[in-house]
Amino acid sequence: MSKSYMQGFTTQAKEIEISQLPITGTLPAWLDGTLVRNGPGQFEVGNQTYRHWFDGLAMLHSFTFKNGQVSYVNRYLRSNAYHKDNATGKVNFQGFAVDPCRSLFSRVMSMFWQPEDGNNTVVNVTQLAKHYIAMTETPMAVEFDPRTLETLGVMAYQDNFDSQIATAHPHYDYQRGIGLNHSTKFGATTFYQLYAMTEKERRIIASIPVKQASYIHSFGTTEKYLILAEFSLRLPNALSLAVRNKPFIENFQWQPETDSIFYVVDKESGKVVAQVAADAFFAFHHINAYEAGDTIIVDISAYEDAALIGHLYLDALRDPASGHPVIGQFRRYTLPLKGGRATYEHITNESIELPRINYKQHNGRDYHYAYGGSVKHGTQDFLNQLVKIDVKKRTALCWYESGCYPGEPVFVPAPNAKAEDEGVILSVVLDSRQNTSFMLVLDAQTFTEVARAAVPQHVPFGFHGQFFSGI
Ligand code: CO
Repeated sequence: MSKSYMQGFTTQAKEIEISQLPITGTLPAWLDGTLVRNGPGQFEVGNQTYRHWFDGLAMLHSFTFKNGQVSYVNRYLRSNAYHKDNATGKVNFQGFAVDPCRSLFSRVMSMFWQPEDGNNTVVNVTQLAKHYIAMTETPMAVEFDPRTLETLGVMAYQDNFDSQIATAHPHYDYQRGIGLNHSTKFGATTFYQLYAMTEKERRIIASIPVKQASYIHSFGTTEKYLILAEFSLRLPNALSLAVRNKPFIENFQWQPETDSIFYVVDKESGKVVAQVAADAFFAFHHINAYEAGDTIIVDISAYEDAALIGHLYLDALRDPASGHPVIGQFRRYTLPLKGGRATYEHITNESIELPRINYKQHNGRDYHYAYGGSVKHGTQDFLNQLVKIDVKKRTALCWYESGCYPGEPVFVPAPNAKAEDEGVILSVVLDSRQNTSFMLVLDAQTFTEVARAAVPQHVPFGFHGQFFSGI
């Protein structure tokens, strides 16, 4: 028996443009803007298959809300990877888990691996001033037009920033008017480089030498600090990346006997004000963080180990015998700044992944609500429900519909909202009963459906998206 969610991991070859999706229910009249989502749209090229969920060729999807209606456009990102892979019928570019032996790369012993220009930026999107960019885990980004989803080319920073990998989860510091991100520069000495970004340049805030760099997918911020969680999935030898005998991620090694380390870095001075050890763990996504007296609270969607990465290979996801791997625990770590180890507690027994919050008002600050994808208790399935977690009362609300697989829930505040959760949740849901997808709109307070808009074809499972107001 095949998995009912399988359609989510199949190619969507059709690029379409629909000016009014059929709507059930009523969209709030105030909802005005565009949700752009990023994720893989093509899972094979020629007779080769991309190996990992994170490596399919990027497709952008936009849902534009205006006057109670919603329009939809999907377009492949015309990156160099897209053009070259399709032209040659082969996988050419180094990605997350792309097998370099099958690529056209000559395995030159260039001292250190450099990301290729115009790579497959499949993970997330963001805005830098008037630029809208698609990102993957390198500092390079690809610019697109948020209205047409036309690819505009590689984002041209005017700097000489030098790092090989970066997160696709930059933060935005509204007080300082800058983006913030984390990167790693591999070399004889490897450095974590936390940096500020504007549309023009990337400026290093802190450069931290490390013996064995960890695979870091996201990080946290508080009002004063950058919070880097260094998981126990480490690169024993940075040279192995240059030699390219293995796919990028397979150079990293799970080291359960080693502590995971939280670095607390002052945003202004770049000083590491604390390094707090925790028992080994792994995560992709931070949820939120904030300062609380002599401690820092770090909420994170956590795992006992890094086995999840292996479970997200497409072969494993498509294997009828495989389990239900995406069971992120909602852990709240407390970091003592004056010495001692980090400890954690569970905020809820609902699982959480692809977490989101009311970002603009509450990122880096104390908060009440987190939203995420989740697996319903008692089901052996892929992410099949949405949850709203009240982190104060430690209660959960769930949205579930049999046969449906919702993606990352994006919170959009109502205009002049007073309450933290006044607004809507937008999520693209795969309906496996019809092999199509729909845009689900929930009232964020009650977590009940207010409307859905049907897309006439399926939207492959993606990763992250952003709502851009007024466009
Ligand atoms: Co992510």
